[in-house]
Amino acid sequence: MNGNIAISGSKNAALPLLAAALLADEPMTLNNVPRLQDIYAFNNVLRVVGAQVQFQDIENRVIIDPSNVNYLEAPYDLVRKMRASFYMLGALVGKHGYAKVSMPGGCAWGPRPVDLHLKGMEAMGITITLDKGYVIAKAGSSVPGGRYRLEPSSVGATINLLLAAVLRAESFTIGNAAKEPDVVQLCNVLNKMGANISGVGSDTLSIKKAQKLSGGTFENDPDRIEAGTFMIAAAMLPESSLRLIGCNAQHLGNFPQLLRQTGAKVNVEGEVISVQAPEILQPVSITTEIYPGFPTDLQAQWATMLSQANGNSTVTDTVYFDRFSYVPELSRLGANIKLKHNTAYIQGPTLLEGASVMSTDLRASVSLVLAGMAAKNTSEILRVYHLDRGYESLEDKLNAIGAKLTRAQE
Ligand code: UD1
Repeated sequence: MNGNIAISGSKNAALPLLAAALLADEPMTLNNVPRLQDIYAFNNVLRVVGAQVQFQDIENRVIIDPSNVNYLEAPYDLVRKMRASFYMLGALVGKHGYAKVSMPGGCAWGPRPVDLHLKGMEAMGITITLDKGYVIAKAGSSVPGGRYRLEPSSVGATINLLLAAVLRAESFTIGNAAKEPDVVQLCNVLNKMGANISGVGSDTLSIKKAQKLSGGTFENDPDRIEAGTFMIAAAMLPESSLRLIGCNAQHLGNFPQLLRQTGAKVNVEGEVISVQAPEILQPVSITTEIYPGFPTDLQAQWATMLSQANGNSTVTDTVYFDRFSYVPELSRLGANIKLKHNTAYIQGPTLLEGASVMSTDLRASVSLVLAGMAAKNTSEILRVYHLDRGYESLEDKLNAIGAKLTRAQE
């Protein structure tokens, strides 16, 4: 595979900014928003509550006018499609003092998956009640705030607590806050809108109440997970040389350094990351961690690459223990991977052969595409709608560098 790929705007960074638009008194313009199903789904949630949302082709620009928001609910039908819709809880209660939002997937309030979001809001002084699968959040004109420590550190909970606190809490501190670039971007944009958040980029975020937030025009970050996925593709597919345009290498944490350990040549020049495949791919074991450690959103792609490495290695996920549904599918293509608890043991190299496989989630689906590109013969990947949730124009980008992907109509 040879050539250039333009990196799209980040899905996970855009979603909290779209939610933050509800906090403003004026419209927000957001450039570099990827055209993805998850973004369309979130825009529909914004429309349901009364915001006007336009997605323009120019600069992939989304304009959100929150001035007519009058329905403070996010129904199950929309929230079940995407967990990030739960950001509506923080955004609506933060701006309007009331929100009724479906639990994602209709889960009970157990230790997972949104307990930290809810306990953090309660610690702030917001009243949380559960009613028939919905969370109802109520706050007066202000809540006292206080301090809440996230255990474990959570990207989603940090974002929801920020959204709830900036206009509503007198003074609130989030301990063990997520430091992921998506959170940093949200804090920076909120501060430009008039919020008072200090400690941005650290694991302690302190918020002092702002009276109002203004709108404005903001630039979304590039997608670090998309960039990392193509970097892995370049390293695993023999003789490849790819230039990824429009990246922010700093957002990749330790990842480029780890990729170099495979023997791949990785060069960063401004916004361009170049990766050349090594002659012999070395096995490099990884363990996922919170930022700047190895991202859980890249472990499936990394394990796929390791199936082509010259030796044995492991992939351990400490963020999501059960994020290995891709393993049986890769095995169908001929990979030699055994799973024990939250570690995949990979023996490489194996010759992959085309087969029919099933996408189970977003990152699993792109891993199967990478495996299919490495495999002899043709592979058929089913349920590729997962890809459209998170990879903009994937076939076009990969076909332009020499892949042969076609989308069959289902
Ligand atoms: C976000 C990303 C996702 C990424 C993940 C970790 C979005 C839309 N999604 O998901 O792609 O894989 O960060 O980088 O940005 N947890 C709890 N209770 C909670 C919340 C989380 O126990 O209330 C646990 C989770 O089960 C998990 C860990 O905390 O084990 C981290 O999850 P979290 O950072 O919240 O992930 P998301 O924000 O859902």
